[in-house]
Amino acid sequence: ITKGDLLYEGKAKQVFATSDPAILWMHYMDQVTALNGKVKEEYAGKGQLNSNISNRLFTYLASKGVTHHWLGSVSATDELVKKVDIIPLEVVTRNYTAGHFVSRFGVEPMQKLTPRVQELYYKSDELDDPFMNQSQAISLGFASEADLKTIFALADEVNELLVALFEQIDITLIDYKLEFGRLADGQIILADELSPDNMRLVDQKTGKSLDKDVFRQKQGDLRVGYQDVLERLEDVLK
Ligand code: C5P
Repeated sequence: ITKGDLLYEGKAKQVFATSDPAILWMHYMDQVTALNGKVKEEYAGKGQLNSNISNRLFTYLASKGVTHHWLGSVSATDELVKKVDIIPLEVVTRNYTAGHFVSRFGVEPMQKLTPRVQELYYKSDELDDPFMNQSQAISLGFASEADLKTIFALADEVNELLVALFEQIDITLIDYKLEFGRLADGQIILADELSPDNMRLVDQKTGKSLDKDVFRQKQGDLRVGYQDVLERLEDVLK
């Protein structure tokens, strides 16, 4: 497999074509952004940490029967993934209150949510990823009612597995964002990345954030927490 043209550059990843039309090449960048790209910084090695963490989480989910796009690593920062048509929805699961759930609804942070909350956002940088409900997503043709049922069921399956995994390493999975895509045959599978750039992870012993909130809140070097998450995952996923 050889790397082809750059197809897409996001805020933290680049996606390239490959010599195989069914496979894409993903590169994790060291760039980290907040406020939809308005704040930007480089952290050498961040891409490598995210790629490593994401690969381990995808491998874990696959071992539990979750179908996803990750095929394997080609370097510390690059991986091959199945080509999918990305559904332009960001699926956020919240197990505890934080972030925009707190600012939007005026509630205390770190309150357990029962049942867990599932939200949809329209994936659009120009529009700042607006909140979107199911009928809006169906009417705009992004997904059918059956697709949304599948997506929310998959998100729940992933949530149970990830909550249990992080629990084993004394980390609370507060909230996170997933993306889904369609294979050529129409099957909906998990796509994108699974890393502390897209999750809130709190150390149960210290209460400290081990995710991008460290950057958002200017609390120091986010790589310290990412490295910690990676080491704990390495220990438990041997
Ligand atoms: O900002 P908010 O509280 O809505 O974020 C909820 C979760 O979704 C956080 O873990 C955040 O990192 C993630 N998220 C993301 N990409 C976005 C919006 C949110 O990864 N565009």
